Amino acid sequence: MPGRSPLPDSPASESPATESLASESLASESPASGSTSVDSARLLCRLDELPPGRCREFRLGEGDWPLRGFVLQTARGIRAYVNRCPHLDYPLNYLPDEFLTYDGSLVQCTMHGAVFEKDSGLCVGGPCLGRSLHVLPIRIEAGCVLLADGVDVVALAARFA
Ligand code: FES
Repeated sequence: MPGRSPLPDSPASESPATESLASESLASESPASGSTSVDSARLLCRLDELPPGRCREFRLGEGDWPLRGFVLQTARGIRAYVNRCPHLDYPLNYLPDEFLTYDGSLVQCTMHGAVFEKDSGLCVGGPCLGRSLHVLPIRIEAGCVLLADGVDVVALAARFA
């Protein structure tokens, strides 16, 4: 089935690159094997890559300017945001998959320290107080977090490039 890839059977690796997960998935099994498949072009991460209190970075799209974002578990569910700070549009993190304050209670921009609520993306402290991270609609399917259908990845990538 075009645009869909089988899921790997092995547990999630420690690799930070979700894009490599998708590539491995494409190579590991064929849909004819009967495995569950998801739309790899919208795959943000697998649920088992996202333990409570952790974040997972992703890239969607081809070329030098993919859509970059991250997924996190919150008390109210899973959220996904574009990895751009509303202050100066810089990426939020310095280290792979690291987006939270030391105590894990808030998302934090490493550049100038703005902090954001995990559930809403609202900035509650710092130079962009009152502004918000860009929320990405998601859906959960077959143990994976996917970008919701109808969200234009190319347009978003261009907007946040
Ligand atoms: S770029 Fe994020 S706080 Fe300045």
